[in-house]
Amino acid sequence: MTKERKILVTSALPYANGEIHIGHLVEYIQTDVWVRFQKMRGNRCVYVCADDTHGTAIMIAAKKEGISPEDYVARTAVSHQKDFAEFGIQFDNYGSTNSAETRRFCDEIWHAALKADLVCEREIEQLYDPVAETFLADRFVRGTCPTCGRKDQYGDNCECGATYSPTDLIDPVSTLSGAKPELRKSRHLFIELEKLHSFLNTWVAESGALQEEIVNYLKGQFLSEALFPWDISRPAPYFGFEIPDSPGNYWYVWFDAPIGYMGSMQQWCDKHGENFDQWWRNPETEIHHFIGKDICYFHTLFWPAMLHTAHFTMPKKVHIHGFLTVDGEKMSKSRGTFILARTWLNHLDPSYLRYFFSTKTSSRVDDLDLNLEEMELKVNADLVGNIVNIASRSAKFANLTGLAAVYPDDGGLFAQAAAQAEEIADAYEKREFGKAIRLILECGYRANKYIEESAPWAKRKELAALDKDPNADPAERERVFRELRDGVTVSLNLFRQIVIWLAPVLPELAAKTEKLLKTTFTQWDDAQQPLLGTTVAPYEYLMTRVPKEGIEKMIEESKVTIPAENVDAAPKWDDSAEPLAAEPLAETISIDDFLKVDLRVGRILEAELVPDARKLLKLKISLGGDQTRQVFAGIKAAYPEPEKLIGRLVVFVANLAPRQMKFGLSEGMVVASGPGGPEVFLTFPDEGSKPGYRLH
Ligand code: 2FM
Ligand code: ZN
Repeated sequence: MTKERKILVTSALPYANGEIHIGHLVEYIQTDVWVRFQKMRGNRCVYVCADDTHGTAIMIAAKKEGISPEDYVARTAVSHQKDFAEFGIQFDNYGSTNSAETRRFCDEIWHAALKADLVCEREIEQLYDPVAETFLADRFVRGTCPTCGRKDQYGDNCECGATYSPTDLIDPVSTLSGAKPELRKSRHLFIELEKLHSFLNTWVAESGALQEEIVNYLKGQFLSEALFPWDISRPAPYFGFEIPDSPGNYWYVWFDAPIGYMGSMQQWCDKHGENFDQWWRNPETEIHHFIGKDICYFHTLFWPAMLHTAHFTMPKKVHIHGFLTVDGEKMSKSRGTFILARTWLNHLDPSYLRYFFSTKTSSRVDDLDLNLEEMELKVNADLVGNIVNIASRSAKFANLTGLAAVYPDDGGLFAQAAAQAEEIADAYEKREFGKAIRLILECGYRANKYIEESAPWAKRKELAALDKDPNADPAERERVFRELRDGVTVSLNLFRQIVIWLAPVLPELAAKTEKLLKTTFTQWDDAQQPLLGTTVAPYEYLMTRVPKEGIEKMIEESKVTIPAENVDAAPKWDDSAEPLAAEPLAETISIDDFLKVDLRVGRILEAELVPDARKLLKLKISLGGDQTRQVFAGIKAAYPEPEKLIGRLVVFVANLAPRQMKFGLSEGMVVASGPGGPEVFLTFPDEGSKPGYRLH
C-alpha cells in the first residue's frame, strides 16, 4: 500500500469585477480534473479558491453602480460560484480575499517581512486624478503613445508594442473622470526582494517546482540582475486592507491575492476541524498552484519569497499553462469568440468543453487553441461515436439479462485494459491529460471491436425468435440467452473501466453510468475488478452529439457590437495609392549613394517656437554624450506644442552641410513625412533604439 498523500491545490483567484469566461476555464477545468484524479487515487486532496476582490478597479466599478464594494463582490461571488458549479468545478472551499481569515494571514506575513527587515519606504511620483480624488493605476490612464504617436493608448503599453510609464504618455487623460491627471508624490512601502535573491536563485533552480521553460525564463529575465523592490502599498482611497502600522496605506491587491489561498484554506480547516499548520506548515503536504503564464512572476518570485520569510511550506509544484486562443486567435468580442461561461452553458453541454480542453492539456506552457469545429468533431467521434457507443449498443439488452455472475472469457480484453491503468494514472499525475485520453480511447476501440464481433443485437433477435417458437429447445434458448448476457457483461465492464478513468474529466458521464449500472465507483482501482451478478437500469442517453446550431447561437450571443475604432479584429489596411501618385518613386541609387547620408537616432532636448517664423520650430538634438546639434524644422503647424516633443527620439540627418538661416545656424535635418502643413509626421525610432545609433 502506498502512503496516502496530503495535497493542497489552488487555482488563481478570479477578479471579482469580471465574469468567468472560457479563457478562465482552461485553468479551472484542468485543476478540477487533476484534483478529482487525486481523490480517486485515494489521496487526501483539498482544492481551494476564492474571489480576488481588492483594488481600484473594483472600487470604481462599485461606485459606478452606486453600491458598496462589499455588496459588489458579494454579488459576483454568487455568479462565479454558479458558473463554476455548472461546469463541474468542485472546490472544497470557495472564499474571498476580503475575509477575516485572509486579513489575519496578511498581518502574519507582513510582520514576518518587517522582522526580516525586508520593508522599506520610498517616495514615488504617480499620476493622480484630481476629480476622482484617487491615484491612478496604469490602466486608468490613456493618452498618446510616446513612441509611435498613436492616440488613445493605455498608460503602460501601446498597440505598437511599446511599454512605458504612464508619466511618459502624451496628453494623458484619466478614464475615471476624463480629467487631466497630475503628478503627485506619495510614500509607498516596498519589499526588498533583492535581499532574498540568493534564496530565490536556489529555489527556482533546485526545488523542481517549476517547468524547465519557466526556470529559464526567470533566470534570464529576472534573476540575472538585481531584483527590484516590490511596491506593495497603495494610498487611500483603496478597497483593501489598511496596513496596521501605516495608517492611510493599504496592501496592494497583488500582496493579498495569493494570501487569499490561505484565507480560503483556513475556512476549510475551520469547517472540517482541521489544523491549518498541519497543512501549510508541514513538509509532508504537497502544495500545488495552477496558474496562467501571465501571472508567473507573482507566483514564482514574490509568493515563494513571502512563504519563505513567514516559514510556510513552499509549493511542491507551480503548474503553469498558456493562454486560450479561439480558432488560432485571441478571443474577440467582435468575432463572438470571447465566450462567457454562462453563454456556453446557455447553448452547449459543459462536458464538451471539459473533454476538449483535456484532450489538449499537457504539462507544457503552450497556448491552447479551441477550434469549435475540431471540438465538435472530437466530441462526436471520440465520446459519442467511440465511448458512449459501447454502452448504447449493449446496455439496452443488459436490462433484460443483467450481468453474468462469473466474468466470461473476453480474450483478455479486460485484463489488457486493467494493465494500462497505471500508465493512464501516470499521465494524469503529470498533467498529460491528452495522453491519458489517447490511451483510454484505444481501450474504447478494442471494446467496440468486441461488440461488432459478439453482435448482441443478433443474439437478441435469435432469442426473440426462440421465445415465439412453441417448439423451441429450452437448452438452445438458454445457450443464446447466456451468450447474450456474456456479451453485454463484457461490453459493459469494458465501458465501466473507461468511464472510471474518464471520470476526472467527465464526472457527469460517470454519474449517469453509475445510475445505469446501479453502482458507484469512486476509486481508481475500481477498474481492476469487473462488476458481476447485478441488474442494469433501463438505458437513457448518456451524451448527445454536439448540436451545430448550439455553436452558432453561442457565437451569436457572444458577439458584441463595438465602435469601429475599438474593433479588435485583424486590422484591414486600406491604404490609398494617392501619396505615391503625388510623389512618384525617385530614380534608383546604389547602396554607396545611400550610405553617403548619415542617418542617426537623436533625442530632442529642447524644442521651442521661433518668434517671427511662421513654420519653424527650433530643436536641440542630442546624438549621445555631449554631441548636440541645433536645427530649424518646418513642423510648427504639425506640432504646435513643441514642449511635448522634448525627450522623444527622432531620425536625424547628421552629415548635412550646416546652413545659415535668418534665425540661426541649422546643423542637420529631422526626418519627417507627409504632404506638409499640419500633416507632417516625424519619424520615431522603435523602442530600444538609442541616440547615436546609425540607420542602415
Ligand atoms: O490575474 C488574475 O486574474 C488575478 N486575480 C489572479 C490572482 S491569483 C492569486 F494570486 F490570488
Ligand atoms: Zn505606440
